[in-house]
Amino acid sequence: MKAVMVVVGTRPEIIKMAPVIRALRRSKIPLIFVHCGQHYDYNMSQQFIEELELPMPDYGYRVKAYSQGAQTARIIIHMEQLLKKTLPALVLVEGDTNGVLATALAAVKLGIPVGHVEAGLRSLDLRMPEEHNRRLTDHISTYLFAPTETAENSLKRENVWGKIYVTGNTVIDSVIQHLPIAEKKSKILENIRFEKFALATAHRAENVDDFAVLKSFMEAFAEAPIPVVYPMHPRTKKRLQQNKIYVKIRELANVQILPPLGYLDFLVLMRKCEMIVTDSGGIQEEATAPCMRKPVLVIRLSTERPEAVKAGFAEVVGVEKQKILKAMKRTLEQQKELPEKPPYGDGNAAEKIVMLIKEELTF
Ligand code: UD1
Ligand code: UDP
Repeated sequence: MKAVMVVVGTRPEIIKMAPVIRALRRSKIPLIFVHCGQHYDYNMSQQFIEELELPMPDYGYRVKAYSQGAQTARIIIHMEQLLKKTLPALVLVEGDTNGVLATALAAVKLGIPVGHVEAGLRSLDLRMPEEHNRRLTDHISTYLFAPTETAENSLKRENVWGKIYVTGNTVIDSVIQHLPIAEKKSKILENIRFEKFALATAHRAENVDDFAVLKSFMEAFAEAPIPVVYPMHPRTKKRLQQNKIYVKIRELANVQILPPLGYLDFLVLMRKCEMIVTDSGGIQEEATAPCMRKPVLVIRLSTERPEAVKAGFAEVVGVEKQKILKAMKRTLEQQKELPEKPPYGDGNAAEKIVMLIKEELTF
């Protein structure tokens, strides 16, 4: 029987594929759900499958921590074996992780078509592993589901071989589907020490693996003009521990460090905060959802999400402490009105993607 294989491997992929998995199940297209194992801690992976009420993966792996190359190679090896055994009609991957490139490569070498959800994003920053992964995946995909026209134009400029469709970003579907549930179920606010706060996250390799940048972030949060709530990614915690400053950061009066949170808790914090300070990709998009609408300071040198900047939600402020502090003060003082219309679609991206798959593969 023809089936679509949906592959996830990290926290954001589960969140962004959840609406696609639901739409596939509604359409009765046979689904093979796979966790390729890039993230493995409960709170970076299984937690999301459970709280978003997704089916248990039909196949799950655990890759553990390796170098970029070894992690990619190990995923290619087990995904190739699985693809040979299951022979899906299409493999759907989402985003720009090592697991995405590894899965797409394994599939294309077996002649299995790849559909890339969130195709065409470009930071033009080749220090980023994500930029390698997304560029290469786009060039070996048969179907490219671009979230915006900007992404579509990048794909056209690069003469990709596959068919391009503009669908919106499934993360908007996810925010719309989960925020009402989050507001009913989450009790996270009972644990937050501050009434008003900025929500921070940071995990990009080119930031937290560079001690000067990591230190600049921690100092900015410590001296911020508003208390900071900071759910910490395991990569960042590891770097702080290696540099022997994790305990010191935990004791800061102005900063509340939390473990990586479930999606419902995180959505509630996003909704309640005064601003978001982040180097995350997905959070830049989520902040633009009509039910969210939050200012985002992007603590990076570039963004592959220029639509959020153009629409007035996000600002790329760089990685220097003084620039971050200045931008936080300005954001607090300005309290600017944010647009109603999200640049990443209307929350029906997953339905559109599944409809296109049905047409293309004549399910
Ligand atoms: C990966 C993606 C990044 C994405 C992020 C989502 C790549 C190149 N990077 O980055 O694009 O934004 O996931 O969160 O694919 N770790 C744990 N437990 C886990 C997962 C990671 O302890 O469950 C720690 C390990 O020390 C590991 C490190 O985090 O070595 C980095 O994990 P990895 O998956 O390689 O990259 P991320 O930084 O998570
Ligand atoms: N997120 C979460 N808990 C957290 C931090 C983030 O559920 O503690 C969600 C967030 O809402 C977004 C996704 O995880 O949907 C972003 O993941 P991350 O920043 O790790 O990856 P990126 O988007 O940068 O690839």
